[in-house]
Amino acid sequence: IVMDFKHPDGVTVPVMLPRRSLLLMTGESRYLWTHGITPRKFDTIQASKGHKSGIITSDVGDLTLSKRGIRTSFTFRKVRQTPCNCSYPLVCDSQMKETPSSFPESNKEASQLEQEYVHRVYEEIAGHFSSTRHTPWPRVVEFLKALPSGSLIGCDRSQNLVDICRERQFQAFICDALAVPVRSGSCDACISIAVIHHFATAERRVAATQELVRLLRPGGKALIYVWAMEQEYNKKKSKYLRENRISQGKKGEINNDTSVQELLVEQMPVVGNQDSACSVPSTNDFQEGGCNSREVTNSKLPIHTNRTSFHSQDLLVPWHLQGNPGKNKLVEPFGAVGSHDPSPVFHRYYHVFCEGELEAACQTLSNVRILQSYYDQGNWCVILQRV
Ligand SMILES: C[S@@+](CC[C@H](N)C(=O)[O-])C[C@H]1O[C@@H](n2cnc3c(N)ncnc32)[C@H](O)[C@@H]1O
Repeated sequence: IVMDFKHPDGVTVPVMLPRRSLLLMTGESRYLWTHGITPRKFDTIQASKGHKSGIITSDVGDLTLSKRGIRTSFTFRKVRQTPCNCSYPLVCDSQMKETPSSFPESNKEASQLEQEYVHRVYEEIAGHFSSTRHTPWPRVVEFLKALPSGSLIGCDRSQNLVDICRERQFQAFICDALAVPVRSGSCDACISIAVIHHFATAERRVAATQELVRLLRPGGKALIYVWAMEQEYNKKKSKYLRENRISQGKKGEINNDTSVQELLVEQMPVVGNQDSACSVPSTNDFQEGGCNSREVTNSKLPIHTNRTSFHSQDLLVPWHLQGNPGKNKLVEPFGAVGSHDPSPVFHRYYHVFCEGELEAACQTLSNVRILQSYYDQGNWCVILQRV
């Protein structure tokens, strides 16, 4: 069988493990590298070495396919009874928790972060992102259907996304959610779906919420959805986690090591990009070599592994860009100029909300009461009413 080892800098090394062999992992290979066996029917192995152990090189002239059969493997693990003091604090879950990220430190830094890791990214991925939105979430539809009929208008910071709306004959305009160019008290209702989690400080998230309330007439209602830190709620996994094929009974191919799962998640062919009102599983999400990976390396934010639980509230979520559906305007790819990578990876900044956090933020707003607060589709949601 071929096991893949992956270094945090993105290097992947496939290693042939022969039948009846014992693999012992110590030091760097145990702590720094992740490892996993990708579910597939054939392994690519070194023709000259056959089934002997060793690293598979990229010498294409010396590669051949080996059909997989039934594999039985055992993992023996030494359980640590004391706090972890391994020499790899940057990738050690328990040591990482002790040094929470304090980034960003000011409004200016937050706005720069959003510019780089939210606005530029949505411009780049607009076409692909839009093509992954299909069916609106039922409770959002329910909110909209309960409104008296009237005119509807959408807005977004992304020029390319707004253009897509206009091409489809929807009314939409470009604006920042912190300063919507609409008269105060002029809207019967507003919705903000999967937007406020892109603001990088608590103050900016509250300000975006207050801006929604400003638009409402007295009695008007706003519906807000933000991505939840808790992707498992009432003992039920969110669709986001469920679309990770690892948790869908492919266990014959994997063992339960978290690091194994993480690597496999990155390698699954149908692990989708995440989030928002509606999504279909569409792409895989390798983390390495992102289009803004230079900035990622410099930033203090952890990079999330798609379709896994969150370990940090502030994080970068990879988007694996596929195809060129027109509106993926590669205007100024960050570091990808001249790159022939057919599927560049972009990273979007998210602040995922903990239970009660959205509600607490809304309680600080003036002229508003909270009508409902609930969990839906991996999001925390509130319905507010202007008083
Ligand atoms: C996850 S998408 C959700 C899109 C859409 N609301 C939906 O439910 O499918 C996040 C959207 O927020 C927009 N966005 C992020 N920051 C924004 C800001 N400061 N002002 C306006 N829109 C913003 C992005 O351009 C992007 O379209």
